[in-house]
Amino acid sequence: MAKIQTIGILTSGGDAPGMNAAIRAVTRAAIYHGWKVMGIYRGFAGLIDGDIRQLTSSSVSNTIQRGGTILKTARSKEFMTPEGRQKAYENFKKFEIDALVVIGGNGSLSGALQFAADFDVPCIGLPGTIDNDLYGTDSTIGYDTALNTIVDCVDKIRDTANSHDRIFLIEVMGRDAGFLAQNSAIASGAEAAIIPEDDSTVDQLAQYIGRGMRKSKNSSIVIVSESPKEGKGAQYYAERVEKEYPQFDVRVSILGHLQRGGIPTAFDRILASRLGVAAIEALVEGQRNVMIGIRDDKIVYVPFGRAIKWNKPIDRELIDVLGVLSL
Ligand code: F6P
Repeated sequence: MAKIQTIGILTSGGDAPGMNAAIRAVTRAAIYHGWKVMGIYRGFAGLIDGDIRQLTSSSVSNTIQRGGTILKTARSKEFMTPEGRQKAYENFKKFEIDALVVIGGNGSLSGALQFAADFDVPCIGLPGTIDNDLYGTDSTIGYDTALNTIVDCVDKIRDTANSHDRIFLIEVMGRDAGFLAQNSAIASGAEAAIIPEDDSTVDQLAQYIGRGMRKSKNSSIVIVSESPKEGKGAQYYAERVEKEYPQFDVRVSILGHLQRGGIPTAFDRILASRLGVAAIEALVEGQRNVMIGIRDDKIVYVPFGRAIKWNKPIDRELIDVLGVLSL
């Protein structure tokens, strides 16, 4: 592999708190090794348009505590086409970039995998998504912050749910993964979580209502994972409650994009810093086309194909814990 002198770095897909800490770590670790760092703005869209500027050590000062991404982000449809990727490669060469660091979720790492395959360029991925749905890492950058944000919101909603004797169905993000829903339900003492991974034939709503009735509960909180694939979000379950259990007063609260913002937790800042430094170490070692993850507190390299295509399972124990504690 040709000697690396310059790296490009971009954030892509949904932003996640801690992305700035990762940009900072990658930038400073690269400079530590004597490399030049080119910041690519608006993800792959910026690579296509040539929206690229050099980052110095001071460009990333005072960013570790900020949510969002200083490089901005986008979901580029054009990058999904061979013509779009060709344009991106032309800028890759024009700006004399030797390797690319991509911070993002599933879609972003799929883009990196395709780009690396098309043009035989070294790419390193960092898992940056609140969804925590990348295989091979215990946590993704932004997940812990989003989880804490959700718990904070649920604590507040519980006050009003209690006062009014209501059932609240609270919808949280996660795309097709239930990590945010399951763990926020445990952490907020919710009565149930409805998640896409629970493929049992048991009707999750009926099971939960039955349990609540046995305890003659008047108010309760159910966390519902958004499930764009099946379109069965909190609204769907609220309509069912209204129809099938009219004795209950039910309300829906969709937390939405507030889950993606905010000051990153210390956990996310440390995770992002470790992963960012490890991304540069991986390039120094000659690694390519791997996502950097952390498992059992150790840095690991996960081939792109595995990180994005292998479904990350939810530990059955988490489902059992919620079940036991909500009895
Ligand atoms: O992947 C992160 C995520 O926040 C998902 O949880 C959610 O389904 C999606 O992005 C929302 O995307 P957008 O901000 O483009 O609406």
